Amino acid sequence: MNVFVTGHLGYIGVHLVKQLKDLGHQVTGCDIDLFEGCEFEPFTRPDKELIKDIRDLTPEELSGHDCVMHLAAISNDPMGDLDEQITYDVNLKGSVELARLAKQAGVKRFLFSGSCSVYGKGDKLDLSETDPLNPVSAYAVSKIEAEKQISLMADDDFTPVYLRNATAYGYSPMLRIDLVVNNLLGCAHSKGEIRIMSDGSPWRPLIHCSDIAKAFVHLMMANKELVFNKAINIGDNRENYQVKDVADYVQELMPSALIKFTGEVGDDPRNYRVNFDLLNTLVPDFKLDYTLRSGMDELYKKYIANGFNQDDFDGDKYVRLRKLKHTINKIKAEA
Ligand SMILES: NC(=O)c1ccc[n+]([C@@H]2O[C@H](COP(=O)([O-])OP(=O)(O)OC[C@H]3O[C@@H](n4cnc5c(N)ncnc54)[C@H](O)[C@@H]3O)[C@@H](O)[C@H]2O)c1
Repeated sequence: MNVFVTGHLGYIGVHLVKQLKDLGHQVTGCDIDLFEGCEFEPFTRPDKELIKDIRDLTPEELSGHDCVMHLAAISNDPMGDLDEQITYDVNLKGSVELARLAKQAGVKRFLFSGSCSVYGKGDKLDLSETDPLNPVSAYAVSKIEAEKQISLMADDDFTPVYLRNATAYGYSPMLRIDLVVNNLLGCAHSKGEIRIMSDGSPWRPLIHCSDIAKAFVHLMMANKELVFNKAINIGDNRENYQVKDVADYVQELMPSALIKFTGEVGDDPRNYRVNFDLLNTLVPDFKLDYTLRSGMDELYKKYIANGFNQDDFDGDKYVRLRKLKHTINKIKAEA
């Protein structure tokens, strides 16, 4: 198939391009390359690469593709809060316009990279797709509104699907350490401290970034009638954890590391344990390749092999918000 991947230079995108190419698909990537120079390891490039803003794409560039996988975004809560207007412009308006262009260009399937953070301050545990959404950030609101507006375009010729991904973790050649698991493990390895910013009680559904990529591939191949215009939680019921569970496993890996509760985020309002039965029902062949433990073991080995150190942990390279702020300051200084 001919597949168009946006955000292909990101943490999840680089896994996705590799998986698609390994399966023999033709891949076009489009990414503005916000995190240029932030590679942890070399990665696979798509067959064709457009280094540009998704908001500048044309129908001609999209035409001839069977599926658009849309991952490009301002990709977490703190970045989303940095400038809410940009977050809405890219994540909401940009996504809706991209879906419109894709439909106009005759693309049949549009897979949107959403997030379980739409459940936000969960009213109850084990949230499923029909439960109320309680967003606590501009990022989450942008994902909800994009789902809603894109859903209005669904018809016989255009099948959008909304992947509400669990929180990602694990090794990627475009590593991020601003995700809870990677952060706790990276801090323990580089500084000998397990720093928990909340009281450790919030629930999070977790999924390896490579398994999110795998879900995109499965949902591209899934029967149209099954997935048509559906929001689907992406993860596994057994992979819901409290932050303190993650810290405990870090401690098992590094017994000498000290646990510190910094309390810097106070009562973390984001607390959601999620139910993934719909995914199992619609795509029963899909199984996670990783558990939290196997994914953490892999990442720990990668930290060691790459000599990941305090400078890496404190620097800009692997923290999306810091890198973005750095780029903005540079642009301002040059203006
Ligand atoms: N990482 C997670 O835990 C997680 C969880 C749920 C959902 N998601 C979603 O999955 C997607 C990918 O996440 P990620 O972790 O790989 O993020 P990432 O920040 O590593 O990658 C996002 C990519 O999008 C690109 N981009 C941003 N704005 C763009 C624009 N206007 N035009 C073109 N490219 C642009 C960036 O350059 C970057 O390479 C995002 O939509 C994110 O919201 C991520």
